[in-house]
Amino acid sequence: MNFIVAVDENYAIGRDGDLIYSLPSDLAYFKKITNGKVVVMGDKTYLSLPKHPLPNRTNIVMTLSDNEFQGAITVRSLEELKVELEKYDTNDVFVIGGASIYNLLMDYCDQAYITKIRAREPADTFINNIEKKGNWKLASESEMMTENGLDFSFCVFENEDVREL
Ligand SMILES: NC(=O)c1ccc[n+]([C@@H]2O[C@H](COP(=O)([O-])OP(=O)(O)OC[C@H]3O[C@@H](n4cnc5c(N)ncnc54)[C@H](OP(=O)(O)O)[C@@H]3O)[C@@H](O)[C@H]2O)c1
Repeated sequence: MNFIVAVDENYAIGRDGDLIYSLPSDLAYFKKITNGKVVVMGDKTYLSLPKHPLPNRTNIVMTLSDNEFQGAITVRSLEELKVELEKYDTNDVFVIGGASIYNLLMDYCDQAYITKIRAREPADTFINNIEKKGNWKLASESEMMTENGLDFSFCVFENEDVREL
């Protein structure tokens, strides 16, 4: 299992229920990496998507409510998620947010696709900084790019101590 996220220097990922930064190349990268795959998200992230469910992907939404989400499989606990994910190749599964779901699932992930944005804007939603945990190692990093005045790079980290789901 993998997770994919865009973070800034504070590991901030959101503000007012939305993304903080506008980076079309990062959205294109997200689409390329997750196309045809299985995406796991919290209900707030599902509802924040401009188009939901995400097309050409198996959408799985986590919620504690009784709600159903159009075009998505709904799971209501880690145990239910585990049962659902047994149907897929674990390499094809991508956790796509938001903060509560990243923080819940990151320790179970083998790889993290992290877009690192060199900025610090006000934010209200953060994820745990995997670079401060001893078990995540940087496997690759793209060249630095600039878009909309923002410097960023695409990093892949590998987890050397993956928890069993
Ligand atoms: N930068 C990025 O790459 C990125 C990516 C994705 C999202 N985001 C941002 O992240 C923010 C949203 O994050 P968030 O943490 O507020 O919301 P979220 O993780 O998308 O959704 C939270 C909801 O998930 C459900 N949930 C959480 N833990 C659960 C569990 N153990 N079992 C079952 N359901 C569970 C609950 O739904 P119920 O309330 O229905 O019970 C909870 O309210 C937004 O600002 C969004 O734009 C950023």
